[in-house]
Amino acid sequence: QTIYRKDYTAPSYLVDTVELGFDLDPARTVVANRMTVRRNPASAQREIELYGEDIELVTLRLNGRTLGEGDYVIEGTLLRIPNAPEEATLEIETICVPESNTTLSGLYTSNGSFYTQCEAEGFRRITYFPDRPDVMARFTVMLRADKDKYPVLLSNGNLIEEGDLDNGRHYALWEDPFKKPSYLFALVAARLVCQEENFELADGRTALLQVWVEEGNLDKTDYAMQSLKHSIRWDEERWNLELDLDRFMIVAVGDFNMGAMENKGLNIFNTKFVLANPRVATDVDFQGIEAVVGHEYFHNWTGNRVTCRDWFQLSLKEGLTVFRDQEFSADMIGTNTGRAVTRIDQVRTLRQAQFPEDAGPMAHPVRPDSFVEINNFYTVTVYEKGAEVVRMVQTLLGREAFRKGMDLYFQRHDEQAVTCDDFRLAMADANGRDLTQFERWYSQAGTPVVQAETRWDEQAQTYTLRLIQSCPSTPGQPEKLPFHIPVAVGLLGRDGRDLPLTVDGKNLGTTAVLELTDSDQTFVFTGVTEQPTPSILRDFSAPVILKHGYSDAELVHLFSHDSDPVNRWEAGQRLAMSRLLKLTGQVAGAGNVVDRLDLDDTFVDAMRKILVDDTLDPSFREQALLLPTESMIADQLDVVDPLAIHLARQFVRADIGARLRTELLAQYDANQTPGEYSPDAESIGKRALKNLALAYLNAAPDEASLALAQKQFDGATNMTDRVAALSALVHARAPAAADALQRFYDEFQGEALVVDKWFAMQAAAPTTDVARVRELMTHKAFTLRNPNRARSLVSTFCAGNAVGFHAPDGSGYGFWAEQVIALDALNPQVASRLARAMDRWRRYTPDLQAHMKRALQQVAGQAKLSNDVREVVSKALAN
Ligand code: ARG
Ligand code: ZN
Repeated sequence: QTIYRKDYTAPSYLVDTVELGFDLDPARTVVANRMTVRRNPASAQREIELYGEDIELVTLRLNGRTLGEGDYVIEGTLLRIPNAPEEATLEIETICVPESNTTLSGLYTSNGSFYTQCEAEGFRRITYFPDRPDVMARFTVMLRADKDKYPVLLSNGNLIEEGDLDNGRHYALWEDPFKKPSYLFALVAARLVCQEENFELADGRTALLQVWVEEGNLDKTDYAMQSLKHSIRWDEERWNLELDLDRFMIVAVGDFNMGAMENKGLNIFNTKFVLANPRVATDVDFQGIEAVVGHEYFHNWTGNRVTCRDWFQLSLKEGLTVFRDQEFSADMIGTNTGRAVTRIDQVRTLRQAQFPEDAGPMAHPVRPDSFVEINNFYTVTVYEKGAEVVRMVQTLLGREAFRKGMDLYFQRHDEQAVTCDDFRLAMADANGRDLTQFERWYSQAGTPVVQAETRWDEQAQTYTLRLIQSCPSTPGQPEKLPFHIPVAVGLLGRDGRDLPLTVDGKNLGTTAVLELTDSDQTFVFTGVTEQPTPSILRDFSAPVILKHGYSDAELVHLFSHDSDPVNRWEAGQRLAMSRLLKLTGQVAGAGNVVDRLDLDDTFVDAMRKILVDDTLDPSFREQALLLPTESMIADQLDVVDPLAIHLARQFVRADIGARLRTELLAQYDANQTPGEYSPDAESIGKRALKNLALAYLNAAPDEASLALAQKQFDGATNMTDRVAALSALVHARAPAAADALQRFYDEFQGEALVVDKWFAMQAAAPTTDVARVRELMTHKAFTLRNPNRARSLVSTFCAGNAVGFHAPDGSGYGFWAEQVIALDALNPQVASRLARAMDRWRRYTPDLQAHMKRALQQVAGQAKLSNDVREVVSKALAN
């Protein structure tokens, strides 16, 4: 049941047109599918191959003749019609049951209305079809449903006709003018309302933009609409890419497995990435909406017009589109530090989630070689590391050359289903560059390590930088070849300023992009008249682990002066990490008690200096003061004791809170944002720094700090300040926390996304253990059936509360096994994500490992398990 990339064969038949007719009924939806197919000249196969899953086949007709038993073969999800003619019309009638579809893949109901999710292989749960991305067809869709219950009927493309039918039913006919793979099909039949607007495109055409939501949510659509308009403009201006439809719709649905889906002209979104106003959404929520609305919109070109040949090529569209949405978010801020702060966020995500994935049992290349269940490969590696790979191409070629490569990519491949190689070749060919070695970023898994050694020769006035690269083995890939790595380097003089760089007689400005292609390579800078401090991997120019024996003095110098804000931040992270590791060792050595620990003045003073430096953006200062997370610390250790890490990190937070009290209070006051709430970058930065100050003050809470949090909670006029205050109270274990939580729930119980926050905050609280989570699961607002809700409590506890989850008695793991099994029976995709909380089990202390192994075996031992969960747990046990 493992599928291999090397086994790819072209489709036996192509589909030119598909006409779908839906008679929508939650208990029994009839789907009529009429398609014209023809033999693919590129295939030697003579059978028509269709996929179908969890649907009842009623009739199958070929060129008008009803096929009987002996005319076709069904094996599992594959239906084969042997001896088929060159060209044929297939008519297929099937029945499905949307209301009992808890997988949220295919056609399902949510709050009584109909929605679809077809990527990756959900279309086969709607009708029989060659459900693979390299079969692209023109779709026409007729929807029929009860008019009262489902007044809004939507599908891809243009609305051709609508009207009434007998028995209180009505219909709508939609036509998509572009051919597309089946994974981009969508329909919605629902009771919804919309915010809409006519928007002028660059070429003078006008497009109708709509954001569809349930009735009570019309006061939360402004930001999504604004983000959509910004996205359209940005794609026109930066890439000369236009909206190719007269109508573009976004629909929000409360039950959704992932973030959102780029269905042609009809994007379907998790409500989390559409609904926002200051009362219910935080700054982070607003930023998420802008990014995801952009992401899905940008897919129209990178994903839809040019799509993937097969699912191994997923990063072709996802890596490129994440890169595009990252650039969009950065451009929306505009300032240099603003850009850098978005970049720092990306680095944090990589370290928090992608590096661990690369080092764990599910490690896979950006373009995987095999999978059991494709839904398990919508990963941080395919998405975020994939985006880094695209970014490296831009760094190597330069922005203009990269743009030329994009132009050639669209010129060559518009309306085609292609591979990651095609993208790379377009980039190479447009610029006369050789990107052959660069291909290894697509084929080799694992995070490369770059070791840097430096030497200043005073006599010769040269500075030598030796870079040695290696990459650890990963499952199925014991040996790795050298990567083509762009390493951006600057040299700081004693005064903190960048020195001019000369290599091989070439003047390279103040940041040189060195190309590391060998396993061991040396670069010599000439005319270096003083001992510099190297700033290596500026702007995080490659997704690697950089090792260099920096002294504290050098790091403080970089932290105070580096002109590259990302490396400036990075210096602070290195200073913090070395303390955290040392303290974790001390705590563990003392049997997990915090006794006579000490934080040195060098570090605290460096933090103080940044905190009070008003020449720096508040958003940057907030990032610089944030400590590496517990899981980043764990990643540095061979044997992980989660409690020791937690206690050490808490000690550092409390000590900073106590020793910088005066400065933190001053920043708390200086960064207030009075007046009307606005989610602009400057205000977001101020709130972030202010709320970080509040958190530090309450890490070692005195009366005054608690009172400050309480006052902010009581007086908050926006959700950002409200949750920050509530979280400060909860984490300080304040006596008033329980009351505040109750009041929060009472006020927002009608807002599903806020109730998710309420569960998540408690799931992550240091006082929460398994017993408390079980108690919360009995709350009337809890259900496993809604992915957002299940994630807010169960996943947050298992993946975001190290102390509670890793309880020494193993109770957290028993709970995990129970929930994975329960969820798997409802929704394998959500279950499988939760299953991955155990990925790194081999790194824990022996006692914890033993408990974890037992829990994994318990899940693996289930007779009935989805492919999704089976793949994850068996890989965890095997590697
Ligand atoms: N293409 C979507 C996006 O990145 C993700 C959909 C994935 N869905 C799934 N069931 N695997 O925006
Ligand atoms: Zn995507």
